[in-house]
Amino acid sequence: MRYDFDKVINRLNTASVKWDEVDRIFGDKDLLPLWVADMDFQVPAPVTDALRARVEHGIFGYTERPESYYEAVIGWMERRHQWSVQKEWICHCPGVVPALSYLVQVFTQPGDKVIIQPPVYHPFTSVVADNGREVVHNPLKYEEGRYFMDFEDLRQKMDPSVKLLILCNPHNPGGRVWTKEELTELGNICLENNVMVISDEIHGDLILKGHKHIPFAAISEEFAQNSIICTAPSKTFNMAGMQTSNIIIPNQEYREAFQKMMSTLVLRMTNTFGVVATEAAYRHGDEWLDQLLVYLQGNLDFLTEYIETHIKGIKVIQPEGTYLVWLDCRELGMDTKGLQEFMGKQAKVAVNQGHVFGPGGEQFIRLNMACPRSLIEEGLERIAKAVSSCRSVAN
Ligand SMILES: Cc1ncc(COP(=O)(O)O)c(C=O)c1O
Repeated sequence: MRYDFDKVINRLNTASVKWDEVDRIFGDKDLLPLWVADMDFQVPAPVTDALRARVEHGIFGYTERPESYYEAVIGWMERRHQWSVQKEWICHCPGVVPALSYLVQVFTQPGDKVIIQPPVYHPFTSVVADNGREVVHNPLKYEEGRYFMDFEDLRQKMDPSVKLLILCNPHNPGGRVWTKEELTELGNICLENNVMVISDEIHGDLILKGHKHIPFAAISEEFAQNSIICTAPSKTFNMAGMQTSNIIIPNQEYREAFQKMMSTLVLRMTNTFGVVATEAAYRHGDEWLDQLLVYLQGNLDFLTEYIETHIKGIKVIQPEGTYLVWLDCRELGMDTKGLQEFMGKQAKVAVNQGHVFGPGGEQFIRLNMACPRSLIEEGLERIAKAVSSCRSVAN
C-alpha cells in the first residue's frame, strides 16, 4: 500500500496539544504549529484497522498485555535493530518521561547527581531537578554544524555522588544518531565510575539515510547489565496519545526495583487501546515506517535547500535521526527574547525555542518537519518573509 503523507488533515478540535493549545501557549491562534514532537500524519492502516475492530467489541475493561504483545515488541527490536530482547525485560510505563522520573526516584537519593548532555530534551532537566536531585551538565561540543560528546569533560564530571547518566539516543534536538564507538566510550566511562546509563531511545526508529541506531544495551552484556532502555511506539507511529511505552531492563535487580515502584504507584495495568495499537504497529508497521522515512528525508532536503536559497542567517543542522530539525539562528543577531518574539509575532510560526534545551541552545530553534511538505513550505515562507522585512528595516 502507498501512504499519502502529502495529505493535509485538519487536527483542530481534536484536543491536540500541537494544534489546539497554540493559542494558550503562544498567545496567538494563527501561528503555524511546527513545534511539539508529534506528526501530522495518520498512523499505519493496520493500526487503525486493529483499533476499529477493538472499538467494535465495545467492552473496555481492565487490560493486561497479552503474550502476542510481547512477541510483537521482541520481533520489532530483532527485525529493526538486531537486538535480542527477552520477554521478562519488558516493563510497562505510560510514557518515557514518567519512566525517567520514576527511574530517578528509584536509583538515586535526594542530593545525588545525574548527568545530562545539553542542549537536550528539556524534561531531562525537570525529572532530575523536580525530584530534588542535582543536574550535572556534560555539554555537547558543537563543531562545524555537528554535535559530539565531550568525553574529557565527562570524565572530569564523575564523582561518587554521580549515580545516573541520562542519554538521548538518538539525540533530541541535535539530531545525532550516536555511533557504536561513541556509545562504547560513554558506556565504558560510566562503568568505570559506577554510573548507570538510562538510554532514552524513543527516536530510535526514526533514522535517516546512511545512519544506524545502536540500542545502548545491545553493545555488550556489561552495558546491558548497567543500563535501562526507554522505548515506545509513540514517536515512530505517531501515537503519543496512546500513553504506552516499553522500558527494557535486562538487569534483574534493576527491573525488580522499577517494577516495585510501578506497583507502588499502581501503574501496572495498561490502556486498552495502547496495547492494541502497539501490537499492530510493531507487527505490521514496517512498510509505513519505511515510506515515512523516505518522506521525511524529502522534507529535510526541501527545507535545507529552501533555507540555503531564501533565508539568510539561519543554518540547518542536518539531523541523522528524529524528525526534529535544529536551526542555528545566531547569524540573525537576536537575543533569546528577540528570537522568540520574532518567530511568534513576525514570522507567525510556533517553534520550540532553543534556550529551553539548556546551555548551548540559545539562539537556536527546533522545528518539527513531520508534516505535509506544503506546511513546511508555508512555515518557511513565513520565516523568509519576516527575515527579509527585518533586514529591509535594518538597512
Ligand atoms: C527524547 C524524548 N524522550 C521522551 C519524549 C516523550 O516521551 P513520552 O511521551 O513517552 O513521555 C520525547 C518527546 O518529544 C522525546 O523527544
